[in-house]
Order: sequence, then structure tokens, then C-alpha cells
Amino acid sequence: MSLRETRIEKALLYLEPGPLALVTTSEGGKDNVMTISWTMPLDFDGHFAMATGPWNYSFKALKKTRECAVCIPPASMLETAAKIGSVSGADCDKFALFGLNAIASKTISAPCIEGCIACIESKVVKYMPSAGIFVLKATRLISDSRAPDKRIIHARGDGTFTADGQTFNFRKIIKDKLPPGL
Ligand SMILES: Cc1cc2nc3c(=O)[nH]c(=O)nc-3n(C[C@H](O)[C@H](O)[C@H](O)COP(=O)(O)O)c2cc1C
Repeated sequence: MSLRETRIEKALLYLEPGPLALVTTSEGGKDNVMTISWTMPLDFDGHFAMATGPWNYSFKALKKTRECAVCIPPASMLETAAKIGSVSGADCDKFALFGLNAIASKTISAPCIEGCIACIESKVVKYMPSAGIFVLKATRLISDSRAPDKRIIHARGDGTFTADGQTFNFRKIIKDKLPPGL
């Protein structure tokens, strides 16, 4: 078999599998959460990009409050994450509907979510409407090194998902490209 041209729409399937995230916002006394698979780290100082737009209820809160928590659910929370991304906070209270326990954040108003592997409290640095991109800056990280399930979920873009499996250690080869302290 050799490489051959195929439908360009499928390019996304190879670029999509970053971590699936649950992104919380809080506005007017109401907490909300959406599922996000389009994120991208931008530097070693905690800046990262997230793509979303006005079709989501969370968008208004993100623009107004300029903050959110980006929480990383384990594979065992996949069904809940899929359901969270299938309904809108405009129509329901997703924390109540899905039995999510909110943990108070320290640097933002939006809550973190109990049971996640990690939550990144974040502030909006910039919104780029032409690209539908929010540039965020991490302001605080909480993580559970003892979480019973630490498998990060990866959306493949076509309704199927993978979860972390085997780890390969190539630190010796790429050591000059790693940020200090990691
Ligand atoms: C697996 C999955 C991944 C998703 N990724 C994104 C994404 O990266 N960006 C986005 O804008 N919406 C994404 N969505 C859709 C939102 O999560 C969905 O529209 C959600 O209902 C928005 O909730 P809200 O209206 O309460 O803000 C995703 C949904 C699922 C199920």
C-alpha cells in the first residue's frame, strides 16, 4: 500500500485529537459547561488557543467575563462529556443535569469540575473573530496525580474517540526542545 489522495475533509481527523476538554463559564450567577476539542498550546508561558463561536451559549459568557476553566476529563467521563457537548446551557443547568460537582476556582469565577484529571483556570487575552479563536492564558492549574483514571480522551472528529494508551519516552532525543522544569 502507498499514500494516495483522499477527501480533504478527512484532514481534520489527523489534526483533531488534542485533549477533549470540559470548559466552564460563570455569568449572572449561572455556571455552565461545554465540551471542546479544538485547543492548541501557543508557548511555554501558558498561552493557548481555543476555537468556538456565537452558536454556543458559553460564547457570550466567555466574551463578557473573559475567563473560563478548561478541565480535562478522564476516559471514564467520556459519555458525560459527549452529552455535555450535545445540549446547551441556554436550555438547562448542565451541572445539575449531569450531576457535576463544582469546585471553587481561585483566580476566576468559573468553577473547576470534580473528577477531572486536571483543570486549568484561564483568562481571555484576546478574541480573534475572523478565526473564531480565543487566546487564553492559564492562571492556575490543579491536577490529581492520584486520579484512578488518567487516560486523556481524544476526539477524532467523526464521533469516535480514543483514550491515552501506551506511553513512549523519547526525552533524551528531544531534551533541547522541552520547557525548563518538565
Ligand atoms: C466531542 C465534542 C467536541 C466539541 N468540540 C467543540 C469545539 O472545539 N468548539 C466548539 O465551539 N464546540 C464544540 N463542541 C460543541 C459544543 O460543546 C456544543 O455546541 C455545546 O452544546 C455548547 O454548549 P453551550 O451552548 O452550553 O455553550 C463539541 C461537542 C462535542 C460533543
